[in-house]
Amino acid sequence: MSTETTSSPVGLKVQDHIAVVTIDNPPVNALGVAVRRGLEQAIALAQADEAVHAVLIVGKGRAFIAGADIREFGLPPQSPSLPEVCQQIEACDKPVVAAIHGPALGGGLEVAMSAHYRVATASAKLGLPEVQLGLLPGAGGTQRAPRLIGAQAALDLMLSGRHVGAQEALRMGLIDHVATSDDALAEGLAYVRHVLSEGGVVRRTRDQTSAMANREAQQGAINTARAEVQKKRGLFSPAKIVDCVQAALDQAFDEGLHTERTLFEQCLASPQRAGLIHAFFAEREVLKAPETKSAKPRPIEEVGVVGGGTMGAGIAVAMLDAGLRVTMVERDGKALALGIGRVEKVYNGLIAKGRMGAQDKALVMERFTGATDYRALAQADLVVEAVFEDMGVKHAVFTELDKVCKPGAVLATNTSYLDINEVAQAIFRPQDVIGLHFFSPANIMKLLEIVVPAKVSADVVATGFELARLLKKVPVRAGVCDGFIGNRILAVYRTAADYMMEDGASPYEIDRMAREFGFPMGPYEVSDLAGGDIGWATRKRRAATRDLRARYVHISDKLCEHGWFGQKTGRGWYLYPDGARTGQPDPEVEAIISEERIKAGINAPKSFTREELQRRYLAAMVNEGAKVVEEGIALRPLDVDVTLVHGYGFPRWRGGPMKWADMVGLPQILADIQSFAKEDPLFWQPAALLVKLVDEGRDFDSLNKGSQP
Ligand code: 3HC
Ligand code: NAI
Repeated sequence: MSTETTSSPVGLKVQDHIAVVTIDNPPVNALGVAVRRGLEQAIALAQADEAVHAVLIVGKGRAFIAGADIREFGLPPQSPSLPEVCQQIEACDKPVVAAIHGPALGGGLEVAMSAHYRVATASAKLGLPEVQLGLLPGAGGTQRAPRLIGAQAALDLMLSGRHVGAQEALRMGLIDHVATSDDALAEGLAYVRHVLSEGGVVRRTRDQTSAMANREAQQGAINTARAEVQKKRGLFSPAKIVDCVQAALDQAFDEGLHTERTLFEQCLASPQRAGLIHAFFAEREVLKAPETKSAKPRPIEEVGVVGGGTMGAGIAVAMLDAGLRVTMVERDGKALALGIGRVEKVYNGLIAKGRMGAQDKALVMERFTGATDYRALAQADLVVEAVFEDMGVKHAVFTELDKVCKPGAVLATNTSYLDINEVAQAIFRPQDVIGLHFFSPANIMKLLEIVVPAKVSADVVATGFELARLLKKVPVRAGVCDGFIGNRILAVYRTAADYMMEDGASPYEIDRMAREFGFPMGPYEVSDLAGGDIGWATRKRRAATRDLRARYVHISDKLCEHGWFGQKTGRGWYLYPDGARTGQPDPEVEAIISEERIKAGINAPKSFTREELQRRYLAAMVNEGAKVVEEGIALRPLDVDVTLVHGYGFPRWRGGPMKWADMVGLPQILADIQSFAKEDPLFWQPAALLVKLVDEGRDFDSLNKGSQP
């Protein structure tokens, strides 16, 4: 038998009585319909051919199989289904071996588990990450994994979605052999020969019983997992995964498969699946900025950080964690010692938790130097300044950098709000100046806004994206404006919250509404965590330029005047007695709110339902998001989604505010905004883009797909 039809992504070649089935569907061998058809045909041919004694399944390129083709979810199903293909592989009466290199994820691992034996190279990454897409393994994975590795290990894989390497997979019993070389084909062929030499036994996972033999232990693991899942609110598919494993214990294999299919289809139909899959692709699309396509990044090995405060120290840690050499510059010896101390504190915390050894810390610190003289930055490839949020101080710092940095060094500012064009234009190399807006704590938060001023050169922007890759951050390209994408939108939805508070809602109700929507914290809890003084300083700075027609709520300022900045001062919107991390409602805050309402002429406070609070909060977010897109500050609605998800706690399973708006329906959002505008037409001005999309019967997602308005 020779190679199959050239158009199929699945090749079949018989050598030495072994049918080698090769999946070649770049980039990651996802199991789209053509691959499923190819597999179906190849297995059928191998089964029918008497010259074939065994079958080997391998992947070409960088993966075995990364799973089902995620782009097909939500489209009409096409035959054969993946469960059918897996059943056919398992049913084959000649031994089938899967030789795994790179990712074998989701449906990819399900194919491998349907084979009778599994070999993996050191590069293998095995996992069942469907939960991260709002799904469960739907091609027999929930029934086969427990039969191979027991309920506890299977639940761990399916509920965490984590990837395991070859050695761990071997220990679990997920694979049979770890290959010594990286050549999956050669290793797979050798293993097939070994299986044949041992009698060529067909060993079907569906018939395995040993891993599930101790029924009591399995039930215990299922009960524990169910209790854990119930504690974590929000996600739909984890409880269904536990149900499937229960079925694996209680039901015959085919019946269990039927249960799995029913529950998989429920997950597929859930809005969470749509939200999470949107997030999956959006997180990859944000990497495709015009500059990352047109330019090559400059090399980054040595970096500088100016300022060792909250952000500078966090940025230094993020850079050190990425293996870079870091120099921190502070204004004097005392401030430098504090900055270095903040960096050390992060690592000491890891040591105290047993997550790092003292020796590892010492190795990291070898790459870290401090200085008070800017000349220490002469060799830096990239410098990020995180000094006080003050244009005068920023100018002074950039003037120094202009003097000492080598030609071609990227000069970045971490400013939250200041005009980066102004920063850039004041020095002799504006083409090298960019905004790299990290989020606090900078070594933890995933978002990195890459802020693109007018004169920056494309390779500097590409370098920002490359830095994000090195730091394992999620980069989003943003244009220059007050607050860029995230803080600009935050300012608006926080204002909407303040208006609702002054009109009658308590901050505690608003926080609860946000949490019930899926945010980890509400806006007032966030303010208490970050420190109310930060926003207060910004409001004072902007007081002179504030639009006098705009409604202004004084309540936050009143709290700050009392010195109630949040957790760090023991009280803010909430009380934090004895250093508590979770706050309690404060009757004195409620009294201040009541006084302010009276001063604002609100004598009969309104009561809002949770739904009303949510509608206004989200409408404010979506409307500003639309303005950010229409002004080109964000490239697409998906860039707003990724920003809010990774920087502001918007629940990933809802996809982001723009995806959420699409799911609610844009006419509904616009109608809400128009009705709120009757009370305050200045604040609730509908975005022109939103109006246009509603007129044209389109949604935000239509702009993600490249068709511009
Ligand atoms: N389907 C469709 N496209 C996929 C895909 C999949 N399963 N996995 C990755 N891709 C695409 C990406 O969108 C990206 O496309 P682009 O170049 O056009 O942006 C390209 O493949 C490369 O992906 P990455 O940029 O993510 O490459 P990495 O090397 O960083 O990561 C990976 C590779 C670890 C395989 C990662 O892509 C990944 O985690 N993929 C998803 C794996 C997954 O969730 N599988 C389960 C699918 S659901 C399932 O199988 C259901 C079944 O139980 C029925
Ligand atoms: P911070 O007050 O904690 O730290 C500022 C540091 O800069 C201080 O250690 C100070 O000694 C140092 N510094 C001041 N002038 C200097 C100079 N001329 N040379 C060297 N060092 C100098 O401030 P924070 O919070 O770290 O903010 C820094 C920047 O990051 C600001 O622009 C801020 O807007 C921005 N930012 C802050 C975030 C936050 O949550 N705190 C989030 C994102 C950005």
